[in-house]
Amino acid sequence: MMKVLLLLFVFFGVSLCEVGNISEDDDAALEKQVKMMSKPPVKTFVTAEGDTIDCIDIDKQPSLEHPLLKNHKVQKEPTFHVTSPGRNFSRMKAVQFRLREPCPVGTVPIPRVTKKDLIRARATPKIPFSASSRLDTFQHTNMNTRWLGLWTICDPLGATMLINLGDSNTDDIKYGLYGRTSIYNVTVAQEQFSSHNVWIQSEPLDHVSMITVGWMVNPKLYGDSVPRMFTFWTGDGYRDGCYNLLCPGFVVVDGGAFFNKPLVGSTYGGDQRELAILVQQDRTTRNWWLLIGFPPATVGYWPKELLPNLQDGCQITAWGGVALAGSDGICPPIGSGQKPDGDYRHATYFRILHRIDVNGTFALPSRNVMETVDQSNVYGLKNHRYEGSMGYWIGYGGPGGKCFG
Ligand SMILES: *[C@@H]1O[C@H](CO)[C@@H](O)[C@H](O)[C@H]1NC(C)=O
Ligand SMILES: *[C@@H]1O[C@H](CO)[C@@H](O)[C@H](O)[C@H]1NC(C)=O
Ligand SMILES: *[C@@H]1O[C@H](CO)[C@@H](O)[C@H](O)[C@H]1NC(C)=O
Ligand SMILES: *[C@@H]1O[C@H](CO)[C@@H](O)[C@H](O)[C@H]1NC(C)=O
Repeated sequence: MMKVLLLLFVFFGVSLCEVGNISEDDDAALEKQVKMMSKPPVKTFVTAEGDTIDCIDIDKQPSLEHPLLKNHKVQKEPTFHVTSPGRNFSRMKAVQFRLREPCPVGTVPIPRVTKKDLIRARATPKIPFSASSRLDTFQHTNMNTRWLGLWTICDPLGATMLINLGDSNTDDIKYGLYGRTSIYNVTVAQEQFSSHNVWIQSEPLDHVSMITVGWMVNPKLYGDSVPRMFTFWTGDGYRDGCYNLLCPGFVVVDGGAFFNKPLVGSTYGGDQRELAILVQQDRTTRNWWLLIGFPPATVGYWPKELLPNLQDGCQITAWGGVALAGSDGICPPIGSGQKPDGDYRHATYFRILHRIDVNGTFALPSRNVMETVDQSNVYGLKNHRYEGSMGYWIGYGGPGGKCFG
């Protein structure tokens, strides 16, 4: 009986909250959003991977359509000196994000948004907030195992599992974070996603302001199964915000950055390919900058207007992964699909972890960091702390498998 009920809920859940429910009103709203986000391109090109990119006047980009950005003047570069910790190693290559040919001067590359993209994004669960205490972990886990279909599928977070290291020492306000994570060509099912990312976050949780950046394999969102860079933000507890550039918000300044570029994975046991991520608040303008690669390229920023709880630094920085389970209760692999065993060429890692302190200095994570592993039967996390050329590092991930139901 329970099983039948569950199936019914899941069935209706899907039709109520996901792709099935596109009413005429919705359809009109989506059309309107696509229209609002489409600006006349100065130039258009199709990448080798088949993505259509429009070069749009930097001062007319779709993000400026956000009602809170009516009088926003685009900040063309950070006021701080851009630098990042760590060195080059021949066995670990930071992936580059350049378009083969940049957009003309004064324009920025914006991946073209279609109605299909918006429908897919709507059906994709969001990146869960990072836990800052045992209680949050409990709430998070509880929220995501409320397996009476409707809730789970209508819940913005879906059946997401969290594996991360969080620095939530609230005595230390943080103005940014740094980390490099290895990329793998993870295989996931259509209903799952596998994410590897950082968090910048401040409470209260029901109005959480949050920025996440990393790479993921997410067929729901992208319509393909290749690792791609992503961002997700919300200013107000999932009531606003979105993935990537699928809603007004993130301001692009780099004419050569390919926002959601497909990435090539690392070789298990061999050379590693890394995504180097720096998120840093500009203390003069209070905007949060995104810098990718090594040396870091200034991609753009989240304007302060959108992040009410991130006006002056953040409470939590975190590094790790998120897994979305399918309705069959199967969790996808995270990273290479292996639990951390101490060898950086085996499980995926985050290394050279830093937070940015009140003086704008790169500092190691604080002493009382917290580890969260939602499904320790199928995932693991190992905190190696500081180890020579790896810097402060963690191994994380695992094979996935049956995780509930
Ligand atoms: C579709 O979803 C909206 C909320 O987005 C809801 O108000 C409406 O009742 C749903 N329509 C149907 C036919 O289920
Ligand atoms: C690291 O190596 C890449 C290419 O291998 C190069 O483009 C970059 O300038 C190097 N960075 C530094 C800081 O030496
Ligand atoms: C990554 O895996 C997918 C299947 O999941 C495959 O189609 C693709 O060729 C792989 N890419 C690389 C670069 O190995
Ligand atoms: C920041 O700099 C001031 C002045 O040099 C120093 O007193 C303080 O301890 C520093 N704070 C941190 C967190 O390093």
